[in-house]
Amino acid sequence: MKFQIHPLPHFRGPLHANCFILKKEKFLFLRREGDRISGDKKRRMPTDIEDEIKDDKNPPPLDEDDIALLKTYGLGPYSTSIKKAEKDVKEMSKRINDLCGIKESDTGLAAPSQWDLVSDKQMMQEEQPLQVARCTKIINPNTEDAKYVINVKQIAKFVVGLGDKVSPTDIEEGMRVGVDRNKYQIQIPLPPKIDPSVTMMTVEEKPDVTYNDVGGCKEQIEKMREVVELPMLHPEKFVKLGIDPPKGVLCYGPPGTGKTLLARAVANRTDACFIRVIGSELVQKYVGEGARMVRELFQMARSKKACIVFFDEVDAIGGARFDDGVGGDNEVQRTMLEIVNQLDGFDARGNIKVLMATNRPDTLDPALLRPGRLDRKVEFGLPDMESRTQIFKIHTRTMNCERDIRFELLARLCPNSTGADIRSVCTEAGMYAIRARRKTVTEKDFLDAVNKVIKGYQKFSATPKYMVYN
Ligand SMILES: Nc1ncnc2c1ncn2[C@@H]1O[C@H](COP(=O)(O)OP(=O)(O)O)[C@@H](O)[C@H]1O
Ligand SMILES: [Mg+2]
Repeated sequence: MKFQIHPLPHFRGPLHANCFILKKEKFLFLRREGDRISGDKKRRMPTDIEDEIKDDKNPPPLDEDDIALLKTYGLGPYSTSIKKAEKDVKEMSKRINDLCGIKESDTGLAAPSQWDLVSDKQMMQEEQPLQVARCTKIINPNTEDAKYVINVKQIAKFVVGLGDKVSPTDIEEGMRVGVDRNKYQIQIPLPPKIDPSVTMMTVEEKPDVTYNDVGGCKEQIEKMREVVELPMLHPEKFVKLGIDPPKGVLCYGPPGTGKTLLARAVANRTDACFIRVIGSELVQKYVGEGARMVRELFQMARSKKACIVFFDEVDAIGGARFDDGVGGDNEVQRTMLEIVNQLDGFDARGNIKVLMATNRPDTLDPALLRPGRLDRKVEFGLPDMESRTQIFKIHTRTMNCERDIRFELLARLCPNSTGADIRSVCTEAGMYAIRARRKTVTEKDFLDAVNKVIKGYQKFSATPKYMVYN
């Protein structure tokens, strides 16, 4: 079969050059030999084009204009100007971002020219919203023709099959599932329903505090790691000996001695899921709400492979029970009793460790503290001389200080002060330097700061009060 090339019949005049190039791109009509061209069309064919086609054997070399024209092939009429405008916009936004100090990675939008709205829309249409249902029963489980009874709330019960994307092993009785709206086929298994405010407590982003940022507290770190890390890394040791690993730790000590800090370091270290609860978060308006939150919290914790639950400021809910005659505190007590109940673990608790922190251990309910619930009690005392030096070094690590500051001397000047005090001294020393318009902090600044913070603020210190209460 032979093909003969014919020019487009209506090309004439100024399109002449175009026509030649198009021919090179094989965009002319292909006609089979023998096809008849109607006489009328033949008449309209411009003769000069026909001439050019004839000496197709040795085409003239492309000149610069032709190449430029070739380059524009496939582009829309405004492509170049759009590209130029986009480049300008990009440069402008880069300059703005430079000025604001925002990094490129913060603005994740693709350039508008890369947007594919059509396929996005199509994707949206394909994935229709699902309905939440509960799978109440499986008929003929583990066979080819298993059917599922689902209960769509406030509509009806249906017997349905599985969608394409779920396997029969994914679905169990009593599970929440997502079903499509037409055939009510099960499309995805859903996790159990948990209060969103409880889900929010999970710490997903690891805090940037490590054990290196905790000065002193060697014993405390040791004890904590023993309880938290050992059972998770070497459970066989406990099985061999036939003892249950300790369930939880209570950290107590004066405010500002690093209880929360150490918990954050633990969270950073472990791969386990870390849930942080502030005691006051569990105090709710309605009766039974707090206890329900505790239950859901432990339910969520149990669904993880390994989990650490940290109750900070637990005195908000763990206060000793007493009768105040009004009954207003009952709700708080119920919450605490639910914690006690969960700690005892009528349900097996799996790999859950419970940490608690408080600075008023005397007010806690004895039921919470009895062995078997929180076995370990770790006291965070005031840091000694060596620890204080270390804490000074930790907090001045990032500061622009003079070369040889005598941290031992500074530590000696701050007796009976906590880690938080020392941090405040460092900040205050920096303030002195700023006031004197210096770029580095000198030892004199530190000495002034010690005078101001340790001596001046003595009346605000909580430590003596803590000593009295405990
Ligand atoms: N041992 C310590 N080492 C380093 N910094 C400490 C230490 N103890 C306390 N701090 C500083 O004091 C701040 C408050 O400590 P925090 O752990 O929140 O106190 P609390 O024991 O009351 O929970 C911390 O952010 C940290 O900067
Ligand atoms: Mg704290």
